[in-house]
Amino acid sequence: MNSTSIITIAIAVLAVLGLGVVLTATRRSDIKGVGSLSRETRKRDRNAAKVARNSSRDAENLGVASRSAVAVMPPAEIETWVAPDAEALGETRRAFLNRATVTLMSASLGGFAAALIAFLWKGAEGGFGSKINAGKIDDVIGQIRSAGGFLYLPEARSWVTEYPKEAISKAEVAYGKQGAVFAGMNAGVVALYQKCPHLGCRVPNCTTSQWFECPCHGSQYNRVGEKKGGPAPRGMDRFGVSVNNGMMVIDTGAVFGGPPIGTNTTGQEAEGPHCVGGAGKH
Ligand code: FES
Repeated sequence: MNSTSIITIAIAVLAVLGLGVVLTATRRSDIKGVGSLSRETRKRDRNAAKVARNSSRDAENLGVASRSAVAVMPPAEIETWVAPDAEALGETRRAFLNRATVTLMSASLGGFAAALIAFLWKGAEGGFGSKINAGKIDDVIGQIRSAGGFLYLPEARSWVTEYPKEAISKAEVAYGKQGAVFAGMNAGVVALYQKCPHLGCRVPNCTTSQWFECPCHGSQYNRVGEKKGGPAPRGMDRFGVSVNNGMMVIDTGAVFGGPPIGTNTTGQEAEGPHCVGGAGKH
């Protein structure tokens, strides 16, 4: 290869390289032109930013102005203090005391009325103060005998003892006017109120003497409640007894006074040592 050929080839290579450099530069210029903003656009953006800055500054100034503003309130009205009327105060106190008194009295009366109704209600339903079913008369007599001659019925607050049949004619004379009491004796029993007619102690039986002997002041009564000794003004009080279809009922709603001193229809004497004092000293 001669020198002319070599120069020709070198010129061609340089021309190709120069063309490549030109094309590459043109491409970069196109890319840069696409990403950049125009002058009008940049100017518009600057104006918009300025407006935004002015708006935010105005808003801040407004906030500061509102915070620093002092609300002016109208002057408060102050009422002049006036001393309370002593008479009116006294009147109020009296009214309160009157109301309290009336309320307390009403409550007391209400409680009393409730207690009275409860008592009457209980009397109507059963228990002491009403007619109490003691059971079959034969069973009652059997219980008296098995208890040693004295049967205590707490619901009737009574002692129930046997009345001897051989003494019924005397009983008719002494107790005939107390029909309900005599009816019980005729059926073979007597229901004696537990309360001593002297001063009201509960009178127990004495198993040795077979009498009733009061521990309070020593009053003594035979087994059917006729007074034998002590300060009591009469024999033991008692209740009426009825027997229907073999069933014995004690009416505790009415108390019959005991027989007068000296009444002794059964003639029963003490059957052993007394439990209290001696008989016939009072
Ligand atoms: S209360 Fe029974 S003798 Fe006095």
